[in-house]
Amino acid sequence: MKTKIINIENLDDAALRELAAAAVFIKAGGTVVFPTETVYGLGADALNPEAIKKIFVAKGRPDDNPLIVHIAALDEVAPLVANIPKKAQRLMQVFWPGPLTIIMNKAATIPTELTGGLDTVGVRFPDHPIAQAFIKMAGCPIAAPSANRSGRPSPTQGKHVLLDLDGRVDAMILSADTELGLESTVIDLTVEPPVVLRPGDVTLAELRAVLGEVAVSAHVTDNVVPEKVSSPGMKYTHYSPQGELVVVKGTPAEIREKITKALSHHKGKPMTIGVLASDETMDFYHEGLIISLGSRNDPKEMSKNLFSRLRTFDELGVEKIYVEDIPLNNETLALINRLYKAAGYAFI
Ligand code: TXA
Ligand code: MG
Repeated sequence: MKTKIINIENLDDAALRELAAAAVFIKAGGTVVFPTETVYGLGADALNPEAIKKIFVAKGRPDDNPLIVHIAALDEVAPLVANIPKKAQRLMQVFWPGPLTIIMNKAATIPTELTGGLDTVGVRFPDHPIAQAFIKMAGCPIAAPSANRSGRPSPTQGKHVLLDLDGRVDAMILSADTELGLESTVIDLTVEPPVVLRPGDVTLAELRAVLGEVAVSAHVTDNVVPEKVSSPGMKYTHYSPQGELVVVKGTPAEIREKITKALSHHKGKPMTIGVLASDETMDFYHEGLIISLGSRNDPKEMSKNLFSRLRTFDELGVEKIYVEDIPLNNETLALINRLYKAAGYAFI
C-alpha cells in the first residue's frame, strides 16, 4: 500500500484541507497516523471492526491487547461507556484534555475487536490541536495505539513513524516531535480503589490529590522493584532497541565504576558499545558512544527523550547499551517503568 504523507506545522487553512483529506481515509475504514502530546498514534474508526483489525495487522500487535479510544469533546464519552462514574467526571475536569486514559465499563456498541474481548474500554481526550481537529473531522471516535511496530519504542518523531509504518497505513500526519514522549497514564475506574495500570505524565500524586486512594498495578510495582518479578525469565519485548540494553544500578559512584569497567572490558573488541548517561555524568565515560538522556534534574526532559534516544542507538548500530539507573520518585515512575521494560529487566 502507498502511504500518503501529510506534513503539518501549523493549523492554517491548507493544513485543515489536508486533515480533511486524511479524515476521508478514516471514514472509509482506513488507517491514519496522527500526532498527540504523548506519542504518535495509529488511528482508525473505533466503531468499525474491520478498520480496527487493520491497526493490529499494521502494528503486528497481538489481538488480545486492547486499544484506547480518542475523542475530541467531553460529550463524546457517554456513547462509549455503560456509565460515567463520579470519579471519572472529576478526572476529566482536572486532566482532560491531556495524557490520561480512563478505563470504564464499555457500551454495547463498542466492538470486542477493540477491547480484546474485555467488557471495559479506555478513553482519552488528547491535548494536541492537530489530533483534536483530525478527530473532529473524522466524525467518529478514533482507536489508536502508539504508532510503532509492536515491541519497538513508541514513536516521538515523524521519522520513527516512517521507519516503522511506511507502506503499512493509508496516511500519516507528521508534525513536530511529540511534547511528552511517554504514553498516557492509564487508570482503571472499574475497580475500587482505582488502579493505575500504566504510569505516565499524570502522576500518582496528582491522581491521589483528586481521588484519594489510588492503587498501582502489580505490573508497575514489580517493574520498579525487580526482585519481585514473579518469573524473571519471562520474555519482555516492550519498547526495545535492537541492541542489548542493560540498566546499571547502585550509588552514583558505583554506577560510574561499573560502567567504566564494562567499557574497558569491551575495549578493542569489534562490538559497538553505548552508554545512555545524563548531562551531569556523560563526561565520566571515554569509550563507546555516549549519549545523554537529559538533565538528572529534569525528569520531564528525560522522559521526552527516552524513546528517541533508544532509536538513535539503533540507527548507529550499537549492539550493547549500558544505561545509568534513575532514582525512583513520583516524577520518575513512568520513565523507570519504560526503561526497565525496554531493558527486559536486565540489571548489573
Ligand atoms: O499516550 C497514549 O496513550 C498513546 C497515544 C497514541 O494516545 N496510545 C497508546 O496506546 O499508548 P497503546 O495501545 O500503545 O497503549 C494502551 C495501553 C495498553 O497497554 C493496553 O493494554 C491498555 O492501554 N488498555 C487499553 N484498553 C484497556 C482496557 N480496557 N483495560 C485494560 N487495559 C487497557
Ligand atoms: Mg504502545
